[in-house]
Amino acid sequence: MSLTADDLSMVQDALRKVSFYEALTPGELEELGRGFEKHPMTKGETLITQGKAGGVFYILASGSVGVYQAGKLLDTKIATIGPGSFFGEMALLNDDPRSANVVCEENGIVFTLTQETFQKVILRNPKIAALVRQTAGERKSVNREAELNRRSGKTP
Ligand code: CMP
Repeated sequence: MSLTADDLSMVQDALRKVSFYEALTPGELEELGRGFEKHPMTKGETLITQGKAGGVFYILASGSVGVYQAGKLLDTKIATIGPGSFFGEMALLNDDPRSANVVCEENGIVFTLTQETFQKVILRNPKIAALVRQTAGERKSVNREAELNRRSGKTP
């Protein structure tokens, strides 16, 4: 379903805060506007499940989500993501399984892109692809460290 003018302005506001906004051409912005789907999210809702296959990229317009790594006993919170940030990029970049659980913590609106549009618009532009890969790399390092701490018994 196509977005309303209000939805489009909401997604543009979110995109303006995203690291790769400056690198987007007007044509790409328009393509993204056409590709996004709006998804109202509710506190407690699981948006991404660790270990599952990817398929969707997310940009948060409002509300917040928590990122959790599944442990043997407990899930460990590794990050909170707020408006103007993206997530779900890691599985799409390398066709990996989802690296973490992502759960809505504060009601809000998230916009989703299919893997196809992600590849067509985001990965086709080398500057944007590099910025997205950079974020994914940083997140991977944080998670590796958290995983090591967990294995060494510092966290459950
Ligand atoms: P993906 O692996 O596709 O699905 C889970 C998502 O959680 C992942 O992509 C990232 O977008 C996000 N994520 C994973 N680790 C972190 C982290 N350390 N900080 C912020 N977001 C993360």
